Amino acid sequence: MCGIIGIASNKSVSTNIINSLKKLEYRGYDSAGLATIYNNEINEKKCSGRVEELEKILFKNPTDGNLGIGHVRWATHGVPNIINAHPHSSDVVSVVHNGIIENSNELKKELESKGLNFKSQTDTEVITILITEALKKMTPLNAVFQTLQKLKGSFALGIIFKSHRDIIIGARRGSPLAVGYSKEENYLGSDSYALKSMTNKISYLDDGDLCILSKDKVEFYDFEQKKINKKVYILSDDKNTAEKGDYKNFMAKEIFEQPTTIKTCVNEYVDNLKKDINIYNFPIEPKKINKIVLVGCGTAYHSCIVAKYWFEEITSLDVEIDIASEFRYRKVKFNINNLYIFVSQSGETADTAAALELCKKNNVKTCSIVNSVESTIARNSDWVLPIHAGPEIGVASTKAFLGQLVVLYILSLKLGKTRNDINQTTYSTSITNLEKLPDSLKECLKTENRIQVMAKEFLDAKGSMFLGRGLSFPIALEGALKLKELSYLHAEGYPAGEMKHGPLALIEEGLPVIVIAPKDKYFEKTISNMQEVIARGGKILFITDHKKELINENIRFGIRVPTIDKLLTPILLTIPIQLLAYHVALLKNCDIDKPRNLAKSVTVE
Ligand code: AGP
Repeated sequence: MCGIIGIASNKSVSTNIINSLKKLEYRGYDSAGLATIYNNEINEKKCSGRVEELEKILFKNPTDGNLGIGHVRWATHGVPNIINAHPHSSDVVSVVHNGIIENSNELKKELESKGLNFKSQTDTEVITILITEALKKMTPLNAVFQTLQKLKGSFALGIIFKSHRDIIIGARRGSPLAVGYSKEENYLGSDSYALKSMTNKISYLDDGDLCILSKDKVEFYDFEQKKINKKVYILSDDKNTAEKGDYKNFMAKEIFEQPTTIKTCVNEYVDNLKKDINIYNFPIEPKKINKIVLVGCGTAYHSCIVAKYWFEEITSLDVEIDIASEFRYRKVKFNINNLYIFVSQSGETADTAAALELCKKNNVKTCSIVNSVESTIARNSDWVLPIHAGPEIGVASTKAFLGQLVVLYILSLKLGKTRNDINQTTYSTSITNLEKLPDSLKECLKTENRIQVMAKEFLDAKGSMFLGRGLSFPIALEGALKLKELSYLHAEGYPAGEMKHGPLALIEEGLPVIVIAPKDKYFEKTISNMQEVIARGGKILFITDHKKELINENIRFGIRVPTIDKLLTPILLTIPIQLLAYHVALLKNCDIDKPRNLAKSVTVE
């Protein structure tokens, strides 16, 4: 999941390339680089580390030129150093790449056997060498077409040529790529977020598309060299929501704007006057749906687990859930009466997109629940339900998770009502309770000060456990994931009832154990599991909505969230676990918005 930018202009491009790379850093930040065509030469500058390092290099040694490409890297092949940073250039061509060339070793051996040498450990350099060789006999366009035919795996490419200083060629298979249009310049970029500060007119390449871009023209071809046309989208103007304002970092902003984003999301779907949900045009007539299949990765998968409980509780539907990287390789028994739902904040996650592609090949109906309606997953689905959370920049997903949960809950209500699995009273009451969610979330955010103190319990711990039952179990998983990805501390999320089947062996004196136990049908059983932990020295941090004071010298900390419709409680319980992970990471001086080794959009498998 790297970030690509290309600009063809009538003025110098390096400043705009740097600014775009800063916006793309959420896609990868191991290293950065750019190349421009100036004085009929390829001028390449690269660095390991963040874009600001590249900016310092350019400050000392400016690079001019009205055409160029840039790249931020999340390392797949080769360590994140300056040699492996993109662009990869020869004296006639320069290439930036997002994706994985699966036959790169084989191609590299073949080229080396012809006496060609490589500088880097990357798969991308193979592309550079192949095009360089082809350019000896053909035009840039034909050289690229010929090279693409040899590549297996995924790529989004940006390519510039010493001998053709006015064009950039882009090509896409499996990794996202977009084109932006402006009066005196045109752009190539990994996504609209990188381009929207320069234009609101965007086209998206699909797999098998290629573009040739100059400052005043853009042409599109398919890989069979046939000219094609691409739709131009006008982007919504949500520039202000993509800035962090007065917040210390994007994650803080995105945690604290959840009452607002959830209110927006609910209002998009719920008609409070008619007490109805405005979801129609199902791809399968609701009464004919046989089963719901929910698929996602990471946090998005956790929202699928929560939704399984909701669909089972509210509808008569059978529900299956799976992690996308497993689903895409399983021997799935497809059924045309199943509705396959793909949950993805970015809408670009490679495994989720591939799982969706598998469904399309099997002619079954698909729905995507995404934050970006222009994304690959959204554009390839039969039906899209946006979460309206606004751009989420922090790599650790927060407001998007809550948006996914709310849309899944709303969908379960609509299906339950349409299929007569719930009556009007239940339906109307549930809709009314949804209106209370934003204010209840505001109350949850007020637990921050206590959680800040609670966070200290983790600093010297060997690890931690998050436990829950029923709807609280996936929230336990999400809490553990948040703590891992933000603070780099080991954490396990587990069904509380499973502890005695092995994980209890992990419990030792002082180990922090977060018990998530709202006053629901599982409460007493979870308390019993908690006693098992206390008996072995575990330090309990307790999150509940129970009004009763649970005075117990063994509970180190108690955090209480407001009471609300029991089915909505997991949404409230999420706030304390987000804040906990955030504050532990702060105490550990971790990079909150860009945790090590991660990237926001995992566009490689
Ligand atoms: C969430 O905090 C993680 N950054 C990660 O697990 C993420 O949820 C996962 O990569 C899926 O991303 P998507 O929602 O964009 O598909």
